[in-house]
Amino acid sequence: MASIQRERASDELNRRNSAFDNRLRPSDFEGFVGQEKVRDRLMLAVEAAKARGESLDHVLFSGPPGLGKTTLSYILGEAMGVSVKTTSGPVITKPGDLAGLLTSLEPGDIVFIDEIHRMAKTVEEYLYSAMEDYAIDIMIDQGPNARSVRLELPRFTLVGATTRIGLIAAPLRARFGLVNRLDYYVPEQLAEIVRRSAAKLGVDIDDDGALEIARRARGTPRIANNLLRRVRDYAQVRAGNFITGPVATESLGLLEIDPNGLDDMDRRILETICVKFGGGPVGLSTIAVSVGEEADTVEEAYEPFLIMQGYLERTPKGRVATAQAWRLLGLKPAASQQELALG
Ligand SMILES: Nc1ncnc2c1ncn2[C@@H]1O[C@H](COP(=O)(O)OP(=O)(O)OP(=O)(O)O)[C@@H](O)[C@H]1O
Ligand SMILES: [Mg+2]
Repeated sequence: MASIQRERASDELNRRNSAFDNRLRPSDFEGFVGQEKVRDRLMLAVEAAKARGESLDHVLFSGPPGLGKTTLSYILGEAMGVSVKTTSGPVITKPGDLAGLLTSLEPGDIVFIDEIHRMAKTVEEYLYSAMEDYAIDIMIDQGPNARSVRLELPRFTLVGATTRIGLIAAPLRARFGLVNRLDYYVPEQLAEIVRRSAAKLGVDIDDDGALEIARRARGTPRIANNLLRRVRDYAQVRAGNFITGPVATESLGLLEIDPNGLDDMDRRILETICVKFGGGPVGLSTIAVSVGEEADTVEEAYEPFLIMQGYLERTPKGRVATAQAWRLLGLKPAASQQELALG
């Protein structure tokens, strides 16, 4: 129940932010910063498919929220010169919804299914044959008249996005020719994104200003853009519409943004491990229950950033807080942890 409410709250947040996302979204590979391996692989696939005059292979994007999955899907559409029909896992509840969507496509079109891990299992099975054989068998009528009808589909490209790759069933995953995992961005890349966004928003920014914002963005372009929006307000009112290092620091301080880019849940996870469990090792599910979040979400949306930043380690016995985590919380490692605390 609580988890449904959380999902709703985040859906609502997504809607409010989406207009802003769209405005700053790069429309081609040129404008897309970072994720070089993924980008190169996609550019190659696009070029090859176009040279052969074929549709693009099915593509799956996974990774934490706000790293560019939706953005890349639209870029693929632009690059292939096809239209992108967007939907999301929870919206497709019946096989008929899927059939309706897929039969309306032009050859080569992209169907973008966001949150594909939330699609009903009964629908997912129809997707298998659609992806593989470009056909869908639908039951019509009931009782003695029930019969199956095969609908031929145009050659389309499915682009799926998920924050929870662990919830994608193996048979579905296997049907994607290109599986791409997006990773957190380093501050220099985020600073570049902030500079480009500032230009689109018509506000001046120097390199220090961009880096100050980037450092607090939790490795995430969407957060970087959101922080920029807040700093822009401040710069407009108090600093002649010019974001310098000190202007950024001052305004982010006013907003009480953590200088390390950690959000509330990041801190609660570290506090749980250090304070309640003496620094670990402690199991994932125990942490999840303590912070009131789902284990998958903790594992896939929070831990990767904490690990990348050196606050947390995964060991065979469970999660262990590093010396850096203790320092961050302003605590001394528990006596039993003096040697264990890594780093
Ligand atoms: N590599 C990038 N270069 C420039 N801007 C980016 C990049 N990645 C993301 N952005 C910007 O960040 C915002 C969020 O990106 P996007 O909507 O693609 O994230 P997402 O991975 O689909 O997130 P979610 O899982 O929440 O759907 C967009 O406004 C986009 O402009
Ligand atoms: Mg998205």
